[in-house]
Amino acid sequence: MMKKRKLVVANWKMNPTNAEGAKSIFGKIRRAAKKMKQTDVVAAPSFVHIPVLSKLLPKGNGKKNLFLGAQNIHQKDFGAYTGEVSANQLKEFKVRYAILGHSERRELGESDEIINEKVQSALRQGVAPIVCIGEKERDSEGEYLNFIKEQLVNIFRGLPKKYLADCVIVYEPVWAIGHTFKDSLSGTDMHVMSLFIRKTLSEIFGKDYGWNMKVLYGGSVENENAEDLMKKGDISGFLVGHASLDPLEFSKILKVFGSPQIKNAG
Ligand code: 13P
Repeated sequence: MMKKRKLVVANWKMNPTNAEGAKSIFGKIRRAAKKMKQTDVVAAPSFVHIPVLSKLLPKGNGKKNLFLGAQNIHQKDFGAYTGEVSANQLKEFKVRYAILGHSERRELGESDEIINEKVQSALRQGVAPIVCIGEKERDSEGEYLNFIKEQLVNIFRGLPKKYLADCVIVYEPVWAIGHTFKDSLSGTDMHVMSLFIRKTLSEIFGKDYGWNMKVLYGGSVENENAEDLMKKGDISGFLVGHASLDPLEFSKILKVFGSPQIKNAG
């Protein structure tokens, strides 16, 4: 069963080139998010832009459905790890989510075992892990499904069941990343993957666990394919890459969850 509240995550990757640009995109996303009723929005900028954007988060007792996410964390809480940033340090800037195991980080050598440690570190610090899984390519024998299953088993190994509900899963097939909506997975095919992921998690953790989890889709989500994926994919939302850097395009994606579109993207 799908969780009611939706989640849309903007992964800006190593963009934009300066803090002013990040503030500008964030401000427009904030306006779009404000209009959403049942949807939480997470902006995941580069580490360097987190402190400045943290000051722009909605304040007071008003509606709080816009959050900051990190694109990665280190698996330790502190210590001699040159060039790294921990969830423990990010808390100060109100970072509530962390994208973990993105394929672009796996390319740099991150293994399922390291991602497992990162998930645990995030949970220790009260940061919700957004865990990416996905195959590099598909084969006609369905071997890729075993690969997905192995990723899930490895990443959640040893995790106490009660923490699973705090995690978000993103099915992001590597072959669908960085193209256009024409090259993404279809809603119907995502439905198959959602079922497979939930079934696998239920096998690992026990019968109800997988069915209550938030499963998102990522990989060339654009305004053109968002509706099909949302309607047919049995998903709780999206992880959006390039389209999240264009506030108008991003607001159109949010709109499939019921938001009025923002007027001015410029
Ligand atoms: P694109 O939406 O640019 O394909 O990127 C997907 C992605 O990697 C999000 O994490």
